[in-house]
Amino acid sequence: MAVSAFQAGCFVAMLLATPTLAADLRGHGGPVRAIVVTGGEAATASFDTTVIRWDIERGAAKQVLRFHEGAVNTLVALPGGGLASAGEDRRIALWAREGAEPQRLLEGHQAPVAGLALSPDGKTLASASWDGTVRLWDIANGAVRVIEGHRGPVNAVVFLPDGRFATAGYDGTVQLHGEGAPTIHEFGLPLNALVVAGSELVAAGADGALRFVEPVAGKTSELVVAEVPIVALAASPDGAMIAAAGFRGALALVDRKSRSITRKLAGPAFPLWSLAFSPDGRDILTGGADRLVRRWSVATGEPGNPVLTEAPAARLGALASHPGAEVFRACVACHTLGPDEGPRAGPTLHGIMGRPIARAEGYAYSSALKGLGIVWTRETIAKLFEVGPAAYTPGTKMPEQTISGAAEREALVDFLDRATR
Ligand code: HEC
Repeated sequence: MAVSAFQAGCFVAMLLATPTLAADLRGHGGPVRAIVVTGGEAATASFDTTVIRWDIERGAAKQVLRFHEGAVNTLVALPGGGLASAGEDRRIALWAREGAEPQRLLEGHQAPVAGLALSPDGKTLASASWDGTVRLWDIANGAVRVIEGHRGPVNAVVFLPDGRFATAGYDGTVQLHGEGAPTIHEFGLPLNALVVAGSELVAAGADGALRFVEPVAGKTSELVVAEVPIVALAASPDGAMIAAAGFRGALALVDRKSRSITRKLAGPAFPLWSLAFSPDGRDILTGGADRLVRRWSVATGEPGNPVLTEAPAARLGALASHPGAEVFRACVACHTLGPDEGPRAGPTLHGIMGRPIARAEGYAYSSALKGLGIVWTRETIAKLFEVGPAAYTPGTKMPEQTISGAAEREALVDFLDRATR
């Protein structure tokens, strides 16, 4: 899939068709495949090959990490603000809190990596892969243990609080590893997702049901939550609630103890790919095929707190109603327009017209950009989004995105011309 998953022609159509939710994080150029939330920060990974770090209170993208050579399927937070990311290109990248390049790579998987987990002591990273193996990596020295046992792709791995780990795969099994031979639970249908909630494991997959596994007693039970396959699960920080998301945007919240559905959210009419609770358990973030990260209140089911991704109407004045302001909503998480607003994940666009590429002060551009002889004008910016950033500015960190309609491109550059002077 990866980059081919972009439907260039749909970009603006989706933008215009999507209702305006102030709580959206809008920045990816492809479906959002993974979300992790820590404090006021979040990181998301996408089919567009990037990882984005967000300030979720402001709705602003802080940094784009573009390194992987394919869809990024999974993310996990590391101690000290770091991240591990992995996906289609089979590599696991370890990122420090700061920096645009991975600090280290863990290589060895023979097929895409679908899941990552960190041990409770923070020392071991587990990776689940479509090569049928799970690998346990010692983060300090990169030493690896390869675990076999699934017949086919492994989609998910989690650690229990006591340090044991469990895996779920396409072969329909949940396998619990501790001392000695693993305990295997057969469910007989492909499993996509696995989480730990309280003392239980919860798995889900092709038939829209949750499977609860009590790891000590080995008891299992089942709750049907959707008529469509479930692709993502999340557990609330206190383990009381499970969120399950699937195709057609179905999103269900389940009370774990009573095994009952407490709420079905009217999700957007796109498949959802990823889910995460906020650390206080009050919000849930969803990532979907519409490229947005949406934020919902768990208590009310309503879109979450207003954040900044609205075009900054106040400072735009009359330009707020310019047709290009709507197109610019796809850019605002990463780019500011005014002279006194610093960079976000991307450089400020203030003064962009007539400026050679990669010259905004105080912004650390990718080195590949500095050698390109582009001067930004209405024509070159329109071209950038006609052919896409990867083709027009090779080596850029900007997530891949195109604007297929000439009228929308013209509206955008006319807006930029006026708003960045
Ligand atoms: C998720 C973040 C993100 C989004 C969304 C985004 N950009 Fe960017 N953009 C960047 C980054 C990062 C760079 C710098 C690239 C680098 O250094 O590799 C950049 C660079 C640029 C540049 C070149 C700037 C210069 O000084 O040379 C232009 C022009 C630009 N973006 C316009 C846009 C427009 C217009 C949109 C909306 C249609 C947009 N971008 C959406 C992150 C983003």
